[in-house]
Amino acid sequence: MGPTNALHVDASNVEQLQAWDGDEGAYWAAHADYFDRSASPYHEKLMTAAAIATTDRVLDVGCGAGQTTRDAARAAAAGSALGIDLSSQMIDEARRRAVAEGLSNVFFEQADAQIYQFAAGAFDVALSRSAAIFFGDQAAAFANIARALRPRGRLVLTTWQSLADNEWVREIMGALAAGRQLPSPPPNSRGPFALSDPDRIRDVLTGAGFTDVNLEGTTAGMWFGDDAADAYEFVLGLMSWMVRDLDDAARQRALGELRSTLAAHDTADGVVYESAAWTIQATRKRPPPEGNDP
Ligand SMILES: C[S@@+](CC[C@H](N)C(=O)[O-])C[C@H]1O[C@@H](n2cnc3c(N)ncnc32)[C@H](O)[C@@H]1O
Repeated sequence: MGPTNALHVDASNVEQLQAWDGDEGAYWAAHADYFDRSASPYHEKLMTAAAIATTDRVLDVGCGAGQTTRDAARAAAAGSALGIDLSSQMIDEARRRAVAEGLSNVFFEQADAQIYQFAAGAFDVALSRSAAIFFGDQAAAFANIARALRPRGRLVLTTWQSLADNEWVREIMGALAAGRQLPSPPPNSRGPFALSDPDRIRDVLTGAGFTDVNLEGTTAGMWFGDDAADAYEFVLGLMSWMVRDLDDAARQRALGELRSTLAAHDTADGVVYESAAWTIQATRKRPPPEGNDP
């Protein structure tokens, strides 16, 4: 499936639009409950750090199927929450869920957060769960989000720590590599580890107009399915691109290795891998007082 419409995005985000507004977004929308359950240890950390007040106006960047946006809207009962995302499928799913949950102060829009023309200072809090790692231009995207926040408005993000701390990426990618030497996901470039290095996180956010950057590390078991068979379906649905070009023998080897690692991580709580993420908090700097310009 190709992109469902011609949303205008920054040139650096065209491939992301094709993926998230295509097959990948459709898969995420159809399996939103699985992804939400996987993210649950970090979701609680994010929402606690966000400390949303009743009257807050909340922006959720890369909201996906909108669990974070809907929870923000419940917390901001006399305020509102806007979720934006590249994926029309996930935005549709988020709207459907918001209606089913009877929420009237939550809104969703398909848009590129990097260039969307937010009203200046329109939000008290900006959230983002595992989405900022996909921005094509981190500096531009965070500067745009900073403008959308009022002075002293708060930013709260969840991002992954390094590959070394995330067993789930190493094990699942390693199994599907089936002996191939695949390049490790590079640190600092777009993808899971784009915002894993604390120094880089501080540099990007202070450069974009934030201050008081604070990182809290969390390690948690990450759930992939009720049992190995359930997790196999879920993971393969997401990662089948990794075995698409293999010949039959190599594909069988990769699938066998995937089954083995999932079986080895099958516990009483389902299939669980070690993972580690940052909960990042920052505050939008106050603009300098007028008349201070040279
Ligand atoms: C890993 S998913 C996370 C979705 C959701 N936050 C969650 O935790 O379930 C990443 C999301 O970021 C969105 N995204 C990536 N780049 C974006 C951009 N420039 N503007 C808006 N959304 C973006 C994708 O469409 C995708 O839904």
